[in-house]
Amino acid sequence: MDAEPRIVSLELGARSYDIVIGGGLLARSGELIVHSLGKAQCAIVTDVNVAGFHLDALLDGLGDACPRRGVITLRPGEATKSFAELATLCQGLLELGIERGDLVIAFGGGVVGDIAGFAASILRRGVRCVQIPASLLAQVDSSVGGKTGINTPQGKNLIGSFTQPRLVLADSDVLKTLPERQFRAGYAEIVKYGLLGDVEFFSWLEKSWRDIFSGGPARAQAIEKCCRAKAAIVAEDERETGRRALLNLGHTFGHALEAYAGYSDRLLHGEAIAIGMALAFEFSNELGLCGGPDAGRAIAHLKAAGLPTEIGQIPGGAPDVDELLALIAQDKKVQAGVAAFILVRGIGEAFIERGVDMEKLQDFLVRKASGK
Ligand SMILES: NC(=O)c1ccc[n+]([C@@H]2O[C@H](COP(=O)([O-])OP(=O)(O)OC[C@H]3O[C@@H](n4cnc5c(N)ncnc54)[C@H](O)[C@@H]3O)[C@@H](O)[C@H]2O)c1
Ligand SMILES: [Zn+2]
Repeated sequence: MDAEPRIVSLELGARSYDIVIGGGLLARSGELIVHSLGKAQCAIVTDVNVAGFHLDALLDGLGDACPRRGVITLRPGEATKSFAELATLCQGLLELGIERGDLVIAFGGGVVGDIAGFAASILRRGVRCVQIPASLLAQVDSSVGGKTGINTPQGKNLIGSFTQPRLVLADSDVLKTLPERQFRAGYAEIVKYGLLGDVEFFSWLEKSWRDIFSGGPARAQAIEKCCRAKAAIVAEDERETGRRALLNLGHTFGHALEAYAGYSDRLLHGEAIAIGMALAFEFSNELGLCGGPDAGRAIAHLKAAGLPTEIGQIPGGAPDVDELLALIAQDKKVQAGVAAFILVRGIGEAFIERGVDMEKLQDFLVRKASGK
């Protein structure tokens, strides 16, 4: 018997919704959807890997909650978040006869969640979306908060919308089939919540990370904690006009490194973010904002969990610093030529710095890229 699920509510007035976290949720998906949203026809959007392991369990669990249903299975990987795939997906959903009152169920990692959530937000000017995140990263981050979107040759997530899902079902059992490298990369986003605003949670992670990796009770606890932290931030700043930007700790550096690595298996998002967070702590330390012991402690934990923390660890060699700076400048957080960085005053004390001295940054990166 699975323990009772944990429920986190994201409070956004009429757009509020529940994030249900626990084991065995696929088997109960029909009941949970009917309870929150009533019976509806639905289309499940998933990817080949997730479908191979878990689609039958989801279809069984949905039972007659979703009477006429169709399944659209996408190719796994970041390349799926494209205009071409979006067009095919939207047409597929129309061919399945998905109408205004129906449901799109996004069942996969962040890639499926982002593109299916976006397709749902524009299909017939908006149909309801339920997120059933299958990767750790999606369970602690991307399925919550309503950012949806696709990539273009100009950059990641540059086309999209803020559209909240109606329900999130994070089944921790689904993570049993997630490849270990993907799990570790998702763990970087868990560490992020401690580093950006909760030193106690970070201390707990230092003690509990092995239990989280091995699937003990700490895993659901950590997922709940992250969803709670994200829900609180999103409830306060849904459209990222202020505080929500803190969730981008490590992401300005990280996105540039990911772009350099071609959004490939060479460097997963979470791995890039781990390096990005280490750089944010080191740079903050150099600027005299954050003490050396805190920077050292943050980096030591990332390393202990097997995550990369240095630019030089990217397979195939470090990027040229000018290239990295150009990629940082292209990041969508650049306003009037000034890059907004999330810097830290210590563990759990991130803040938004809009006037980063680009010369100091360049000097710092030159040393980091050469391994000093
Ligand atoms: N919308 C947001 O707020 C937000 C936040 C963070 C990241 N993202 C986006 O999320 C994406 C990254 O998400 P991701 O790391 O989940 O990548 P992903 O969706 O590519 O999944 C990673 C890999 O794991 C496989 N997989 C997923 N769940 C599995 C399972 N249970 N068993 C076996 N294999 C499984 C997938 O098929 C894929 O090969 C990026 O596109 C990023 O931009 C969005
Ligand atoms: Zn991220």
